[in-house]
Amino acid sequence: MAVHKKKDILRGRHMICLRDYSPEEINLIIEQAAELKSEQKNGIPHPYLEGKTLAMIFQKASTRTRVSFEVGIFQLGGSALYLSAQDLQMGRGEPIKDTARTLSRYSDGIMIRTFDQNEVEELARYASVPVINGLTDRFHPCQALSDLLTIREKKGFLKEVKLAYFGDGNNVTHSLLLACSGMGMHITVCTPPEYQPEGEILGWAQENARATGGKVELTADPAEAAQNADILYTDVWASMGQEAEQEQRKQKLKYYQVNRNLLEKASSGALIMHCLPAHREEEISEELMESYAPVIFEQAENRLHAQKALMMLIM
Ligand code: CP
Ligand code: NVA
Repeated sequence: MAVHKKKDILRGRHMICLRDYSPEEINLIIEQAAELKSEQKNGIPHPYLEGKTLAMIFQKASTRTRVSFEVGIFQLGGSALYLSAQDLQMGRGEPIKDTARTLSRYSDGIMIRTFDQNEVEELARYASVPVINGLTDRFHPCQALSDLLTIREKKGFLKEVKLAYFGDGNNVTHSLLLACSGMGMHITVCTPPEYQPEGEILGWAQENARATGGKVELTADPAEAAQNADILYTDVWASMGQEAEQEQRKQKLKYYQVNRNLLEKASSGALIMHCLPAHREEEISEELMESYAPVIFEQAENRLHAQKALMMLIM
């Protein structure tokens, strides 16, 4: 079935970092995601990417990103290629710029999960097809887009929703800072001083907040951050690549666990969110992980819908 593409305004764009997208453009992706989710739930075919192929390069492990991109493009009528970086010539030293130009000759989009954000930027500079950041040490934009969709579904709107993030100021924090501030939300990042998010990204988020009426705050005090929060959000204390620091991080971050104590300080009806994978009794208590599983796994499901929308709009 041929389906005409409705929105062309983002066609050909990369998704490297949410800073490159205006609030209107982010909204467009979320709206499209909600529409695709409803089409999928109602059994309405939506083959907007018929015949198209996404090349997916993985330098790190993944459950959600790999499966949601692969299933997502399949549902849109296209297909995906899983490419382990170790098996590509890239793993034996072929330059990123040559990989970018080669994959651009075979595929209609490239998704990459890797360590260094500069690699994604270089890939995008040399690719002639859209490049999607599937997580780097610095950013995880697809996660934040899906999180916005989840928050909008659960709260009905985004503006002035108060999200408190606890733990390590990492890639997920950085993308949440940009996403929440861009949508006029209030985000408080609560970390020990040595695990704060990058100052440059905080600055960008503060700039966003001034334009959107949002708020960006930083604190080391979990009780203060949880006060009246609508959402308590957390992520692992040691990200991929930081395995050697696991024990040291456990010690330094132990007061930042999202648990019943913290939830009691939040607003009534507050939600718990986690991008997953979760480490129970570290960043989140087993009890809250299980009692908020319906929200947390909806959040995981929304990776599918948000990324379908993104692929459909840019590819
Ligand atoms: N949240 C997330 O990106 O999960 P994966 O590492 O399983 O892809
Ligand atoms: N911060 C985590 C997110 C995993 C989806 C990591 O980078 O490992």
